[in-house]
Amino acid sequence: MSILEDREEMRRSGYRVVDAIVERLSELGDDKAFQTAPRDVTEALLDGPPPEEGRDLDPLLETVVRDVMPLAARIDHPRFLAFVPASPSWASVLASFLISGYNVFQGTWLASAGPSQIELTVTDWFRDWLGYPKGAGGLFTSGGSAANLLAVVAAREAAGNPQRGVVYISDQAHGSVGRAARIAGVDPARIRVLATDDEFRMVPATLLEAVRRDREAGLEPFCVVANAGTTNTGAIDPLVELAEVAQAEGLWNHVDAAYGGFAVLDPKARPLLQGLELADSVTLDPHKWLMQPYETGCLMARDVTRLESAFRILPDYMQDTDLGSQQVNFCNRGLQLTRAFRALRVWLSVQRYGLAAHRQAIAAAIGIAARAADRIAGEDELELLAPPSLGVVCFRYRGPGAGPPIPSERLDELNRRIQDRIVQSGFAMIASTRLGDRFSLRFCVLNTRTTEDDVMQVLDRVLEIGRELQADGAGSDRLARDRGPALA
Ligand SMILES: Cc1ncc(COP(=O)(O)O)c(C=O)c1O
Repeated sequence: MSILEDREEMRRSGYRVVDAIVERLSELGDDKAFQTAPRDVTEALLDGPPPEEGRDLDPLLETVVRDVMPLAARIDHPRFLAFVPASPSWASVLASFLISGYNVFQGTWLASAGPSQIELTVTDWFRDWLGYPKGAGGLFTSGGSAANLLAVVAAREAAGNPQRGVVYISDQAHGSVGRAARIAGVDPARIRVLATDDEFRMVPATLLEAVRRDREAGLEPFCVVANAGTTNTGAIDPLVELAEVAQAEGLWNHVDAAYGGFAVLDPKARPLLQGLELADSVTLDPHKWLMQPYETGCLMARDVTRLESAFRILPDYMQDTDLGSQQVNFCNRGLQLTRAFRALRVWLSVQRYGLAAHRQAIAAAIGIAARAADRIAGEDELELLAPPSLGVVCFRYRGPGAGPPIPSERLDELNRRIQDRIVQSGFAMIASTRLGDRFSLRFCVLNTRTTEDDVMQVLDRVLEIGRELQADGAGSDRLARDRGPALA
């Protein structure tokens, strides 16, 4: 069978794929929010050697739609409130199809003048949204982890590759931040994890003290990574004060705003993110709050030439691609030479729906999370475990208001069981985290499909299941024994 499909077959099978996606999106809310299976089941269902000869597309597509795709979290389901959800806009999905179909090589201007202009235009939008000056710029990446890595490498290069370099992060930093420092060659013993305050924010005085202590010990502090929306609680560090410390101490100030950054579009949330514009670099993740498909991340730098100093390459076989600084080669701003044209997704979405719709979606999510937090604060049986921030709400069931308090380990187990029951039912997907020594249930609202009613219904379930488990008189032994299968 030839690899070159015939024109009519391409159309016919292409429409089938579009139909499958539209069908799924139209019925998403009626489906389970989460479905998984253990390895033995997936292997029995899906594993097998590659066939020597090709087969008809129709049954293959049917297998994918029936057996593969459903065994996954519906991350865009309206009651998927776990981790950081995502809900790509239709325009961005179409852009993804176009990007693959045209297979643009977005590494050099020579190979992609139009697409490179779109990436420049969209990163200029981001520059303006962040409040960055002219001269700022960036690039699209596979995600926030990649952007954090590029930032730490750029910081290290800007500091002259110090042998005894120190990086400062908070105990709430995303896991990708410490990993970025390790990949960048920073000795793990010199990655300082600073304790946060009661609201899970980095403390400028703690940073200052740590930097001074390290300098006195002959080490070379060069980078601090602050958070604009931590994954755990949505906390935003005091960005202005941290920028002041960074500037005074000559540190590269990177802000991981992968989760919270696009809240700058909401005029009510914007003041909370004051100081983002002072950062040397900022991680943004359009595949979170800008309604884009996965692998749409971004790194922005206040002075984009500092990215180019760190990452520029010009081997002989690429000499034809050097068309002068006006014709940007995006391969020189990060680590990928062959790059996909990710910026098209954002461009098409913003053109199609307008900025107002994006602002409203972000503001709506923050509003729903705030009202859920108000309800939790008003219910005797529930307890907020962190101040709600952006779209994140951390809380737990704590039993009836009256009567003796339930011991802490038992509360952890009780909440774990509540979570398991909700997830196993497929009604909603919620995740847990730990805040200090406490087990916390956690909602993250940012899906455009999620309504207030969805979130309140999940809270109703938390209360119902919590009461049921309590009424069962389940002692801690029994709770531990009965615990359903944990999240796979
Ligand atoms: C604050 C923060 N930083 C970084 C990341 C990593 O981003 P990605 O998963 O796009 O690599 C995440 C992901 O949830 C995040 O919440």
